[in-house]
Amino acid sequence: RATHNILVASNRGPVSYTLDETGALTAKRGGGGLVSGLSAIGPDAGALWVCSALGDGDREAVRRGVGEDGVRMLDIDADTHEAAYNGIANSALWFVHHLLYQTPLEPVFDKEFRRQWAAYETYNHAFAEALAEEAAEGAAVLVQDYHLTLVPRMLRELRPDLRIGHFSHTPWAPPEYFRLLPDDIAAKVLGGILGADRAAFLTQRWADAFTDCCHAVLGPGIPSGTRIGVHGLGADADFLRERSHRPDVDERLAVLREQIGTAPDGSARKAIVRVDRTELSKNIVRGLLAFRELLEERPEWRERVVHVAFAYPSRQDLAVYRDYTAEVQRVADGINSQYGTPGWTPVLLNLKDDFARSLASYRLADVALVNPIRDGMNLVAKEVPVVSDDGCVLVLSREAGAYEELGEDAVVVNPYDVSGTARALHEALTMPVGERAERTKRLAAAATALPPAQWFLDQLHALDS
Ligand code: G6P
Repeated sequence: RATHNILVASNRGPVSYTLDETGALTAKRGGGGLVSGLSAIGPDAGALWVCSALGDGDREAVRRGVGEDGVRMLDIDADTHEAAYNGIANSALWFVHHLLYQTPLEPVFDKEFRRQWAAYETYNHAFAEALAEEAAEGAAVLVQDYHLTLVPRMLRELRPDLRIGHFSHTPWAPPEYFRLLPDDIAAKVLGGILGADRAAFLTQRWADAFTDCCHAVLGPGIPSGTRIGVHGLGADADFLRERSHRPDVDERLAVLREQIGTAPDGSARKAIVRVDRTELSKNIVRGLLAFRELLEERPEWRERVVHVAFAYPSRQDLAVYRDYTAEVQRVADGINSQYGTPGWTPVLLNLKDDFARSLASYRLADVALVNPIRDGMNLVAKEVPVVSDDGCVLVLSREAGAYEELGEDAVVVNPYDVSGTARALHEALTMPVGERAERTKRLAAAATALPPAQWFLDQLHALDS
């Protein structure tokens, strides 16, 4: 029997492989809270991370037996993975939790959805079986996110000796919205998670919504035996401060400053910065519209401010994401052709992922715009105040999980209110330097209250108690 005492399961793992024309495989390590969390327990803890093989490179690595210690990639049949990941996880479940449906026409839960649901069950089952195979007697298993909601219950049936936690990195929908899902599916998602000893969330708000859904869908008296927890993942201050002062970031900082340029009167231009995946829930288009309204309503800002918008490719297999990316580009181009001058490009939009450049933009931001429709936490809101060189005003959506911890020192917006967001941008741009510095300090302290390593250990310890 296997010997792993701590297991993590997630769709996206800590490493991915690319395959070049010569047939060579290159490994790329990812970042994020789980990666730093796991490194905190050290390589000797014998932890195992079970994840999906996501592309051709990953699949080839599995076939060749290439891999890293402590990582097991599951080569699930590509059609099954596609239906489970794109069809159920990133469409139905992601859309429900982020309130993304335009309900007169969507969602349509038909035969095709049922086919995808069957694939989602198969995919969850593959994870449950791998975990059951790898876990030592009484091991702790931490199952992550909406891709794997059925795993806790499936795994409990296979291995009643295990301690199982489930963690949701997304918001949780309120019952009236969650119940858009067909009743049997809604019950299976909740019942799957309730197979865990503990179900945890990023904020109290999402935890409460989950319990409300249990009552609404499964009836009173539920959840039984499953403890509910909250762990508000914070930014990793040590890592960020060190990483953001390496030469590659300094180089990009110089380039960005050059691109932002100076106003006609010689003063440095202000920068409104946003960094996101090009994700429907991030509300990038309304952010651009608010910037446009700012230029319209407050002509004094023309030539004096630049909106730096980094929107990195995400989930491009889904047509709505491709359309959304095109819309972001279209609106940004429209602003640039309407207001741009030979010496001033109002929107610096960049769709190519570059972590060092993101950090450089955090360092110089005067204003950080974080206006999601809904977001589990939003780590950009937490990272910017930590990395900022001279203080930065955070314009923050009240619908981001981070609002619970950062709301007091941010300029808060309703993400749908474009005019309100435009006014918030003006308020942020004109905030006195002293106040901005004070707020940044308090934001950085709140943002780093629960660094990833501690966040991870807290979950692990909570499973013991
Ligand atoms: C969110 C989810 C994660 C997911 C990430 C990137 O943060 O909570 O589980 O990994 O988005 O999305 P992707 O589909 O590229 O894995």
